[in-house]
Amino acid sequence: MDYREYIVKKLNVEGVTPADIAMPPNSEMGDYALPCFKLAKVFRKSPVQIAEELKNTFTVDEVISEVSAVNGYLNFKVNKAGLAHEVLTKIESEGSGYGSSNVGNGKTVCIDYSSVNIAKPFHIGHLSTTVLGGSLYKIYKFLGYNAVGINHLGDYGTQFGKLICAYKKWGKKEEVEKGGIHAINNLYVRFNEEADAQMENEAREYFRLIESGDKEANDLFEWFKKLTLDYVQTIYEKLNITFDSYAGERFYTDKMQPVVDELRAKNLLKESEGASIVDLEPYGMPPCLILRSDGASLYATRDLAAAIYRKDTYDFYKCLYVVAYQQNLHFKQFFKVLELMGKEWAKDLVHVAYGMVSLEDGAMSTRKGKVVWLEDVISKCIEKAYAVINEKNSELENKEEIAQIVGLGAVIFGALYNNKIKDIVFSYDKVLSFEGETSVYVQYTCARANSVLSKSGAKISLPAGYEPNAQEFEVVKALAAFPQTVLDAAEKYEPSLIARYAVDLAQKYNKFYIDCKILAAEGDAKDFRLALTKATLQTLKNALSLLGIGVPEKM
Ligand code: ARG
Repeated sequence: MDYREYIVKKLNVEGVTPADIAMPPNSEMGDYALPCFKLAKVFRKSPVQIAEELKNTFTVDEVISEVSAVNGYLNFKVNKAGLAHEVLTKIESEGSGYGSSNVGNGKTVCIDYSSVNIAKPFHIGHLSTTVLGGSLYKIYKFLGYNAVGINHLGDYGTQFGKLICAYKKWGKKEEVEKGGIHAINNLYVRFNEEADAQMENEAREYFRLIESGDKEANDLFEWFKKLTLDYVQTIYEKLNITFDSYAGERFYTDKMQPVVDELRAKNLLKESEGASIVDLEPYGMPPCLILRSDGASLYATRDLAAAIYRKDTYDFYKCLYVVAYQQNLHFKQFFKVLELMGKEWAKDLVHVAYGMVSLEDGAMSTRKGKVVWLEDVISKCIEKAYAVINEKNSELENKEEIAQIVGLGAVIFGALYNNKIKDIVFSYDKVLSFEGETSVYVQYTCARANSVLSKSGAKISLPAGYEPNAQEFEVVKALAAFPQTVLDAAEKYEPSLIARYAVDLAQKYNKFYIDCKILAAEGDAKDFRLALTKATLQTLKNALSLLGIGVPEKM
């Protein structure tokens, strides 16, 4: 059990959560500390005074052995032997379930992520939504929620008319069959470069034919869709990503009219230059466009229908949209429209916004076909991982397999390590560094732990009453903090907290590894250190697996 939780329960001060309890890197003053500065506002007293008063009411026990108030901090010393024994026993018994819980109690969380566009490249810009959403999906399941992964496919729009037109003019069946999404994309790019007014007209006509159910147009469309999905599936497999539903924008074709009717019945729909809109001026936003002047629906119309459908179908507790911050306004607008329609559950919709990913060599543009495909980033990472591993340990067996795990981990970790809202520049050298704050570093720490354990050979038995030294205790404290970290990550929709946690734990373990002998130690110290090693390995594995990253035995 995390003693921060224990402390918070005992303190019983409103608003103080385990996340408020600090873990000072130097245990001299205390193993845990509550900074009282935040409370000063609430209590209208100085932090020093608050710390002093809290100290006086806190009774020590067999878990918390000492409390002191220093400069506005309330410091706690804990029973180190007790915490160590409790945590290591718990990890040993829970194994890959350590950190999981049932706080979700089966409540449903829909997560809309990746949401690829049919016939368009799956580029580095889709990396974040895919791995962020994929990680949130795993985190929620780990916490006992019923997570529903939804790929809201971009499979609706005039671009498919263009594609059919381009295919009819320039395409060959065998070529497209063979080239898959790349061939389709080339056709699309060529259309944008070469189409004249007549072709633009034809494209509009083809789009109309798809809409009206024309067989040939729909067969072509379905074929393009299949080729796209076959392709993205290979990427999802590599990144450990799964979905429960692929209901995309087209799925809502026949579900939009009822929304439009409801909007009209509730007097929310206004005519503006022939188009139908919901006026959001009172809320400081531009109008939400529902129908164009030609009667066509829009992105927002389909999202309104989708949200209502999801509520009806899944009765979600929350519905998350993992989509880049460029779409902030779109989400604010349609969430507001649902609220105005009287859907009290509109408050349960969350736009999980994230920043842009670019490569060191600059920007990309989809239109002109100058775009970095995600598959190329992945292959390059695996290739580079091979070189890095080979250089470090050329004797290693199964180098290819290991490079695969390490390279894929680096792609995922590179996208997840930073606070999600930050724009990031993806650097191959950085994400594949053994020294930096990387998955490679964490995986290497696991390999080190594995090697210690396999050399020891002996069955590990945890000694009772062992008093950990400073380095050992830092590892213990970090281990104890894992379950709370998972809860925080879910609450803030921030897998980066788990990525950072893994690096922090690995750093603490490595410090311990360098300062303390393990295999050459004796008696209880040796047993304890082996148990600590095993628990660290397990916890690092659990953390990485919530990000979708594997751990090789050796490196
Ligand atoms: N396909 C869209 C895009 O690539 C993302 C869709 C996100 N989900 C949603 N329900 N709007 O921009």
